[in-house]
Amino acid sequence: MRAAVLTAPHAPLSIETVEIEKPKRREVLLRTAFAGLCHSDLHFIEGLYPYPLPAVLGHEAAAVVEAVGEDVTYVKPGDHVITCLSVFCGECPQCITGHPNLCENTEVKLLPGAARRLRWKGEVLNQAFNLSAFAEQMLVHEHAVVKIDPAIPLDRATLVGCGVMTGVGAVFHAAKVEPGSTVAVIGCGGIGLSAVNGAAIAGAERIIAIDTVASKLELARAMGATDTINASNVDPVEAVKELTGGGVPYAFEAIGAKVTAEQSFAMLRPGGVATIIGMIPFGTKIELHGADFLRDRKIQGTSMGGNRFRVDMPRLLSLWQQGKLKLDHLISGRLRLDQINDGFARLKSGAPVRQLIDFAAG
Ligand SMILES: NC(=O)c1ccc[n+]([C@@H]2O[C@H](COP(=O)([O-])OP(=O)(O)OC[C@H]3O[C@@H](n4cnc5c(N)ncnc54)[C@H](O)[C@@H]3O)[C@@H](O)[C@H]2O)c1
Ligand SMILES: [Zn+2]
Ligand SMILES: [Zn+2]
Repeated sequence: MRAAVLTAPHAPLSIETVEIEKPKRREVLLRTAFAGLCHSDLHFIEGLYPYPLPAVLGHEAAAVVEAVGEDVTYVKPGDHVITCLSVFCGECPQCITGHPNLCENTEVKLLPGAARRLRWKGEVLNQAFNLSAFAEQMLVHEHAVVKIDPAIPLDRATLVGCGVMTGVGAVFHAAKVEPGSTVAVIGCGGIGLSAVNGAAIAGAERIIAIDTVASKLELARAMGATDTINASNVDPVEAVKELTGGGVPYAFEAIGAKVTAEQSFAMLRPGGVATIIGMIPFGTKIELHGADFLRDRKIQGTSMGGNRFRVDMPRLLSLWQQGKLKLDHLISGRLRLDQINDGFARLKSGAPVRQLIDFAAG
């Protein structure tokens, strides 16, 4: 089967024929339908996060089950699924206390470099995020998939696999936004727009979207933003403070940069919480004004929107069916697998939201 292989940071992904194992105990072989280009993949391509190479990236996907290994009871061939990198064991302290996205069981959620499911040129090929979605087939643990209604279009379902779950989950689970409150979101890509949409669903009265690309701000309005700030013209912290008379109770950083993480904290009113969704380059430290903590301001991270994905992803699809979650706005284009490098170049420019690799297109 064909896969996009990353051999070195900054190298273009190369489309190669690779070998995939047969499903072993509790593993599921999938035929990938669509895979989304998320900025997290781009961080790995750019070497901003260390990862053993060569590897196949890709972690936002929807697929059809092709075969199952011994003891798999959850799915059968033909079932439609969304994959999630938050593979859970269901038994460790994190899983048992309601945080399966933080599962610590390394027999289920294999550490980088441990998976032996893919081979290329006779050598093990690393399976990034326990998924490797930039490939025609995926071999995953059964706890890396959620079954979905086959009537749901797989392209829309794909978006939920990372970006939408992360953005909406940051609002629902991490920040727990209160109805009637005010929210600011810095960065309106796939994740930030989903946070905007999540805030609207949560009943926020005022949603301030911040980006440097005008078309993103227009999209943000369509997703529920009530105010927009173009950060290429103005200081977003000053602008938010002016709009709100002092700052917001909830700020979200959905870019992954030191400056915007610091801005998200600086725009809080007393008692506010900044949620850092973006992957700030590994090793980078952020600086905060210590005195701001005296007035109950908080800052926190979120891993994949604090998901319990087997419950949350079907709920998100139901919100789409109700017209509340605007998945259709997030799809900016479809690509063949061999167009993946062009897709990442466009993503870097900030112009598109989600581009999907359509495996049926070749
Ligand atoms: N925490 C998690 O579990 C998790 C999950 C998925 C993605 N992420 C991270 O979330 C971040 C966003 O991912 P994405 O796929 O939505 O990215 P994206 O590239 O689609 O969107 C980023 C947006 O930020 C805007 N932007 C860039 N610099 C800006 C600035 N200085 N001020 C305002 N806006 C600016 C861009 O124009 C773009 O619209 C990435 O860092 C990604 O790695 C984290
Ligand atoms: Zn992602
Ligand atoms: Zn666990």
